[in-house]
Amino acid sequence: MYAIDLMVKEHSDIQKMIGGMHKLCCMILENQDSVCDEKSVLTDAAIQHFYNFIDFTRDYADHHHHGKEEKILFPVMTAHLGKMAENLVTHGMLVEHDLGRSHIRALETSLKLYQENQKTEHKLSIITEAMGYSNLLLLHTEKENSVVYTFAERMLSLELKDKIDVDCKAFEEEQSKLGIQEKYLKMLNDFISAY
Ligand SMILES: [Fe+2]
Ligand SMILES: [Fe+2]
Repeated sequence: MYAIDLMVKEHSDIQKMIGGMHKLCCMILENQDSVCDEKSVLTDAAIQHFYNFIDFTRDYADHHHHGKEEKILFPVMTAHLGKMAENLVTHGMLVEHDLGRSHIRALETSLKLYQENQKTEHKLSIITEAMGYSNLLLLHTEKENSVVYTFAERMLSLELKDKIDVDCKAFEEEQSKLGIQEKYLKMLNDFISAY
């Protein structure tokens, strides 16, 4: 199924970005020169990487990827697959999407506080929120790959799967006209090659 294959591939992109973030946070804890100065203050380049991570999670992981789940796949599942889909989607996946957003909001707040005042507690919050988001999304994408998407592929009718594929292709084309995939896949490559 086109839509599911595409979304599994996007999970892999999100997981790669998280792998880069994990390395960045470890380098900060080790006070490595490329991310901290001699007083253990984060470098401008390291701070910029966190802002790029926020941009990627909001526009690619959330709007571009969760957008297809929330507007195209999940509504079909909850409308046609009964209570089990309702529980999986509404009380599971959508709650986790919101939790991810709250980690990213807190990460942004911590970064701004750190830029005003380089206190260790703000640096701790930056790492905590970045890793909180990362751990959540790793579990979330695995659960979707192994449970939610497989359930949809197994249970939805061919007509509904075709409709999801058509809607996802149209969404991809719109996003492509805006250069979204190109922009964020380049950002991902730059991010993981830096760490
Ligand atoms: Fe999701
Ligand atoms: Fe997903």
